[in-house]
Amino acid sequence: MKTPIRIAVTGAAGQISYSLLFRLAAGDLLGPEQPIILQLLEIPPVMPVLQGVVMELTDCAFPLLHRVVMTDDPKHAFRDVDYAFLVGARPRGPGMERKDLLRVNAEIFATQGHALDEVANRNVKVLVIGNPANTNALIALSNAPHLSPHNFTAMTLLDHNRGVAILAEKCGVSPAVIHNMTIWGNHSSTQYPDLHYTKIKGQDALSLVDQAWFVEYFIPTVQQRGAEVIRLRGQSSAASGANAAIMQMRAWALGTPEGDWVSMAVPSDGSYGIESGLVFSYPVTCDAEGHIHIVKGLTINDFSRQRLHITESELREERDAVRHLLHRRL
Ligand code: NAI
Repeated sequence: MKTPIRIAVTGAAGQISYSLLFRLAAGDLLGPEQPIILQLLEIPPVMPVLQGVVMELTDCAFPLLHRVVMTDDPKHAFRDVDYAFLVGARPRGPGMERKDLLRVNAEIFATQGHALDEVANRNVKVLVIGNPANTNALIALSNAPHLSPHNFTAMTLLDHNRGVAILAEKCGVSPAVIHNMTIWGNHSSTQYPDLHYTKIKGQDALSLVDQAWFVEYFIPTVQQRGAEVIRLRGQSSAASGANAAIMQMRAWALGTPEGDWVSMAVPSDGSYGIESGLVFSYPVTCDAEGHIHIVKGLTINDFSRQRLHITESELREERDAVRHLLHRRL
């Protein structure tokens, strides 16, 4: 049996975690040979709920689940971890403005960035899911000066998967034959789901659908999909969020298939004219050593350029609102 690896999950008693933890324990991240230790972080008032969730995990008798740690201390939760899923965040409450949400979450992610910096494995892969995910990732990494910014990504693979699924349905094909979907920018309604490079069984997707469908249906539907799930379910996407979290971390850890890419929000290196240092969703490939490479050299037409500009501006505004918590210039 291999040595167990340590996986931290924050917000472990929340909705996404109620799906994520069981899939991690079943081996969905790294396969059936890799035992794991789960290190779960919650806030004190929610500890009894977490205890109940852990009882259920125990009752599954998962052969790969070596041990479970429950704590309200980030330094305990992140000690020696190889993977960290930062799911926990404060939801927007009644009367709360977007900037208030940014502020309360910014403090959580600054604290967690510090703790990761101090106690996590130096190769830790940190995936930020809690919203506003891109800016929370920026705050966490800028508070972790001894870790590389490349240890951090934010999740846009759910948006990517939504794009694949909507296109597959439109064209009457399996999602498996769709490649090179792209989500640019922020995980918010300004994101730009782009079909200019997408292939369906090797054919250009945009030669198979109307331009009007792409602009008037596809883009807003992907952008608003999360809000639509909340409207119908009364709660935000949870199982699909957990699925995307596992897929994004798995692609990062094990690599992307030859010829395809995934979307991930990563620290910008200035590619495609995006301000360096913002955490921006790009098409990326991952190699088997766990390195992420932004796909370079794609042609950006005027329509796309405008969309990239809108989502970049939103990320700049978010960054400017939390500037006091950014301790490292990227
Ligand atoms: P939830 O509200 O059910 O769970 C969040 C959990 O985080 C709660 O149990 C809460 O006690 C905990 N928490 C709050 N502050 C914490 C802290 N400082 N440390 C540790 N835990 C803390 O929310 P849900 O549905 O699980 O979603 C979690 C986050 O993921 C939300 O911010 C949501 O907007 C975001 N999300 C992001 C997606 C993406 O694609 N990036 C997709 C879906 C959700």
